[in-house]
Amino acid sequence: MKILGIESSCDETSAAVVEDGTRLLSNVVHSQIDIHAVYGGVVPEVAARSHLEVVLPVIDKALADANTDWDGIDAIGVTYAPGLVGSLLVGSLTARTIALLRNKPLYPIHHVEGHVYANWLIEDHEPPRFPLLALIVSGGHSQLVLFRGHGDYELLGQTQDDAVGEAFDKVAKIIGLPYPGGPSIAQAAEEGDPHAFKLPKARMQNPYDFSFSGLKTAVLRTVQSEVGVGYDFPSHQLPGKVTEKLRRDIAASFQNIAVETLVDKAERAFQDHSPASVVIAGGVAASQELRRQLSERLPLEINYAPMSLCTDNAAMIASLCYFYAQKMPAADPRAGEVIPSLSMTKTAWS
Ligand code: KG4
Ligand code: ZN
Repeated sequence: MKILGIESSCDETSAAVVEDGTRLLSNVVHSQIDIHAVYGGVVPEVAARSHLEVVLPVIDKALADANTDWDGIDAIGVTYAPGLVGSLLVGSLTARTIALLRNKPLYPIHHVEGHVYANWLIEDHEPPRFPLLALIVSGGHSQLVLFRGHGDYELLGQTQDDAVGEAFDKVAKIIGLPYPGGPSIAQAAEEGDPHAFKLPKARMQNPYDFSFSGLKTAVLRTVQSEVGVGYDFPSHQLPGKVTEKLRRDIAASFQNIAVETLVDKAERAFQDHSPASVVIAGGVAASQELRRQLSERLPLEINYAPMSLCTDNAAMIASLCYFYAQKMPAADPRAGEVIPSLSMTKTAWS
């Protein structure tokens, strides 16, 4: 069964064709990173307009790369939640219109749940096994989820404030590194000392919950104190005062403690729930430091998805859509809404 996935929830316009949930036939991603980098973050209206411009050519290319035409596509999966409303609307309406005109079954897919399915697309590896512990870490989410089967999951814990990717992005801004913060902090951290600064780990009532806003504030205060300015110093002028050495040491110390926090929680959940597989998902899953610390601390082999499948893409949406299509009736393409802030709190279906 060949599925066309469409993803446009944030700043990547993507279309992909996946066969039987596991075989990647094409994955086209048009990134808007350059467009938003000048603003230091995603500008919603600019994002929506860019999706509108490229969504059709991106879909055409995904079909061409997969060596197929519309007759070869059995169903369409599209991200309907969560994300930026204008961005979601572009992908959703495009998918609904195509589903109607081409008479294809349509499945609305949850973006965050979709991230987990990048792990079904790792070449030459068996798919993950249930029960499955998933650490989902992106610019909008930090969650630990226990999957008992496809669509049958329990949220163990989540961030109570900032997502971890958001913390990477904010810390990058403080020390004058480009957006997105994850890769630029990882690069700066390579030559920094991860123990140069002692940064705090938040203590939470639920051992699987996260909190990153205190860590971000601690970084801000440390930088202010290191460069010798007060709390009221204009934050946009701060990067100008940060030396290269301070930038690298802050990047390394922050990355180390942020990743250690994630791994602490994952290790605790692993001990409590004895999953058969552990996967990481979402943009922050591209972090080499996260992979290194997890592999060091968990007593099972973890297969990691390639970077291109960790950040936003439609292949993961098409993969999850396949498992939905096995169990669920298709949605009505004339109806359906987008839900900008739908958390993964309860089981989608079981
Ligand atoms: O999943 P994603 O592409 O978009 C969302 O759904 O949020 O994740 C983007 C996030 C950004 O915050 C970015 O800084 C982070 O993933 N990220 C990383 C790395 N690469 C991307 N964070 C840490 N280390 C990385 N290597
Ligand atoms: Zn994402």
